[in-house]
Amino acid sequence: MSHIRLIQVETYEEMSRLAADRISAQIQRKPDSVLGLATGSSPVGTYQLLVEGCAMGDLDFSKIRTVNLDEYCGLAPEDPRSYRYFMDYHLFNRVNIEKKNTFVPDGLAEDPEAEAAAYERRIESMGGVDLQLLGIGHNGHIGFNEPAEGFAPNTHVVELAKRTREANAKFFDRPEDMPRFALTMGIGSILRARKILLLGGPDKAEIMDRAMHGPVSPDVPASVLQLHPDVTFLLCAQPPQKRK
Ligand code: F6R
Repeated sequence: MSHIRLIQVETYEEMSRLAADRISAQIQRKPDSVLGLATGSSPVGTYQLLVEGCAMGDLDFSKIRTVNLDEYCGLAPEDPRSYRYFMDYHLFNRVNIEKKNTFVPDGLAEDPEAEAAAYERRIESMGGVDLQLLGIGHNGHIGFNEPAEGFAPNTHVVELAKRTREANAKFFDRPEDMPRFALTMGIGSILRARKILLLGGPDKAEIMDRAMHGPVSPDVPASVLQLHPDVTFLLCAQPPQKRK
């Protein structure tokens, strides 16, 4: 039996509001929470609302610590296509968080395997993730855990699936610039979070349904979330409206 709760709303803005409210409640309940964060289009509206909450004095990030799910191998932090840059731009540079308390895997690590192991140890030494925010790929990936033979327990180096590379190639001038490898938290790292919140737009409705009700299988990595006791899926029926 799946424990996953599904909340369906009409607009992207409503979805972002619900997600931001849950994250805000977490921050207020435990001001030194460890937040697990994601990049991509799904959480951008949520981050915007957290920025507004902080500007209005309702939210204090000064003791918050964050760990991001993933990063491309080969991209520097100041590269606008890197996930570190995305997080700085959308959230960290706009709230009162201490940069030293924000962690994204190091895409330039000389030894990516060693970086992956160190990243996992870091999450553990922080006491684990209190609330993990996720998006989902069309193939059911979470983080960069692509459909595979098995579930990866820990942070690791991964070769990106063809479909993921195609979906993300729009951010790169030439298709050959798209990195082939990434560092990602493993399925085990994600499942060890105490609460999980997954966001998706209308194009993700079908894969979210499979993840919730299909067999638990590494063919659809997000299906493993059925085994976690505190997961909420937020699904919006409309894509984000372009700001005028
Ligand atoms: C991003 C990540 C990915 C995305 C997923 C959905 O850090 O880990 O798994 O969450 O690809 O991306 P969007 O939200 O752009 O549809």
